[in-house]
Amino acid sequence: MTAEHVLVTGGAGFIGSHIVDRLLADGHRVTVLDDFSTGDRMNLAGHLGVRALVVAEADVAHPLARSLREAVSRQGPVERVVHLAAQTSVVKSVEAPLEDLRVNAGGTLQVLEYARGVRARHVVFASSAAVYGDVAALPAHEGLVPRPSSPYGVHKLAGEHYLRAYGDTHGLPTTPLRLFNVYGPRQDPSSPYSGVISIFFERASRDLPLTVFGDGEQTRDFVYVGDVVEAIVRALFAAEGAPGPLNVGTGRQICVNALAAQVIAAARSASEIAHAEARAGEILRSVADVARIADRLGFEASTPLAQGLRQTAEWFAATRASALA
Ligand code: UD1
Repeated sequence: MTAEHVLVTGGAGFIGSHIVDRLLADGHRVTVLDDFSTGDRMNLAGHLGVRALVVAEADVAHPLARSLREAVSRQGPVERVVHLAAQTSVVKSVEAPLEDLRVNAGGTLQVLEYARGVRARHVVFASSAAVYGDVAALPAHEGLVPRPSSPYGVHKLAGEHYLRAYGDTHGLPTTPLRLFNVYGPRQDPSSPYSGVISIFFERASRDLPLTVFGDGEQTRDFVYVGDVVEAIVRALFAAEGAPGPLNVGTGRQICVNALAAQVIAAARSASEIAHAEARAGEILRSVADVARIADRLGFEASTPLAQGLRQTAEWFAATRASALA
């Protein structure tokens, strides 16, 4: 594989920083565009002083060319794009739908405008399982008509349509990946809008009760971040393109009650489980049909939940130990 210049929007975030690790390890030049609203420079600390990495601090919902000028003069034209910068919370999108529109639909359009202008070779977009809404027959497969139940899902779906339209109109190669519930090291637990596994580990590490919303029988397909990186990189460099959308999940679902019990066990915690009111705009059950991505990209998630939770537990324990030192 020849070395290329890859733009990673949201590259200081949870998934983005793992992508940056992988691309640099593979010998590519990388530019991160991040506004650090939820991303963290600490996630990139391992690459301090690395010449092949440029970090541009900017809001993805503004025109990108100006923010990327210095990066391009150092690294050459952008050749491929991984677009991860987003407002990531379903709940927040229900509370602030216009901001979600601005960042998630508007930001995606800005990325496509930039990619079109520089004739990028491929754009991979982190869409979401939230585009499906509550589907009658699970697992959710890409042939279903999406019926998102949150503004977040609607705007991720709009992003997918923008990609398709730019492909049709401008010949820009694109792939939307419908990420299911991603978890693993570096997921930030610090906000009530954070991913459930990160919140549960943070509370379990302090033996505080884990709050399960609703009856806890709602299910999700939790996929380990290392597997998601593999799927994204395969799509990004797919020889004959990779028309999407493609689900990125494990094909297995677990309910939030069982998840809470597994986190408590993995963290060797004395936490108990408490219940609170169900959240608005949420889907009840979610699990991916993984046949299409296996067929198109030869991808299969290889990290079992128990192993991924162990690895995440180790990271939380190490992070907590260094915070207390
Ligand atoms: C998540 C992602 C979203 C992604 C989508 C794909 C986050 C913040 N959101 O949304 O970006 O596109 O998956 O499916 O990572 N829960 C509790 N207690 C808590 C927190 C959550 O019971 O303290 C429950 C929620 O009610 C929900 C489940 O856990 O049923 C998952 O919630 P959450 O991690 O916020 O993710 P999603 O809303 O599924």
